[in-house]
Amino acid sequence: MAHDFDTCPDRSLTESTKWHRYAGQDVIPAWIADMDFRSAPEIVEAIRERAAHGVYGYPAQRDALFAAVIGHLRRRHGWEVRPEWITFLTSLVPGIHGAIRVGSGPGQGIVTPFPVYPPFLSAPTLSERGLIKVPMAWEGARWSFDWERLEQACAHPNSKVLLLCSPHNPLARVFERAELERLADIVLRHDLLVCSDEIHCDLILDPSARHTVFASLGEEVARRTITLMAASKTYNVAGLACGFAIVPDANLRARYRRLLQGLALDQNIFGLTATQAAFEHGESWRLACVDYLRGNLDLVEAELRTMPGLVLRQRPQSSFLAWLDASALGYEDPHVAFERGGVGLTNGVDFGGPGHVRLNFGCPRDRLREILRRMRGVVERAPGRR
Ligand SMILES: Cc1ncc(COP(=O)(O)O)c(C=O)c1O
Repeated sequence: MAHDFDTCPDRSLTESTKWHRYAGQDVIPAWIADMDFRSAPEIVEAIRERAAHGVYGYPAQRDALFAAVIGHLRRRHGWEVRPEWITFLTSLVPGIHGAIRVGSGPGQGIVTPFPVYPPFLSAPTLSERGLIKVPMAWEGARWSFDWERLEQACAHPNSKVLLLCSPHNPLARVFERAELERLADIVLRHDLLVCSDEIHCDLILDPSARHTVFASLGEEVARRTITLMAASKTYNVAGLACGFAIVPDANLRARYRRLLQGLALDQNIFGLTATQAAFEHGESWRLACVDYLRGNLDLVEAELRTMPGLVLRQRPQSSFLAWLDASALGYEDPHVAFERGGVGLTNGVDFGGPGHVRLNFGCPRDRLREILRRMRGVVERAPGRR
């Protein structure tokens, strides 16, 4: 079936976080990480059918839901998961908080490579833990970990948990198996728990890249890993608030569930319905979406090549987010400059990357063209260009 990503419903008429921020202003939102596309028709239909039932009482997680998740992980990632390892969550952010709390005590250290998805930076502090930030390193042709500093941070006796974002947001790296093995070696030697947030793992844009599930690297690694996943980014169903944690170790899992019980384990029926439909029937839409995003990324790259001062160091390998270094433009606050120019990007400061902005290119191509046209205006008027 052909899927149409060029025409999208008007989200400004809905309760969308992304569109609400700039309501009534001539600013195109390209910030928070959801896409403007309609979800897969199979998901829309499953929700429609469920909505038509008319009874919306407390949900149960049925065998078919577990089978859908397990089948997806087996087919796409070659990872064999048992149903009892899976814990459904309302969303992944409480899952991150839970991992921090189960793996450390108050005052202990949480190691977080950055720039990174903001809750990785706020959750340790909110949980009264110490945040140990390790900058990601530019290796000349790609972003990776700063191995020396990471080893140092993990070696500290107070360090208990490593927060891993894989594929990475905002750098959009799909880490190679060898990089993840090196990381595994570090956490094994220093006895850290890993919270591996792999929410972006099903939108791999780089045809030569392959996502490796961190916990699949071996039993020792799996035993100390809480993997977080969801259908939400891939299938654009984040508003249905449903994700899942996979914790193979029974003891760790029991402690993790106890922590989250009453806080984050009560999903809504539409989230569960969408997750099942996505993994059972969403593959052709997913492939078409990846293809469309690649086309969008080609456009972003081509346009940026002629916008000196706004730098995309590495072509994103995953998802629909481009991390742009705007520091050479000379704006005091590039995020505000782009807003004034009519585009709402994510402020790099939130990710620990001042001078940067993050562009969400998960939108129809015509809209992306207009976003890039407006961004060019901001670049051309930049104080650094004069
Ligand atoms: C790495 C990462 N984890 C988690 C989330 C959010 O997940 P949820 O909406 O399930 O809390 C995002 C959203 O952008 C993300 O990029």
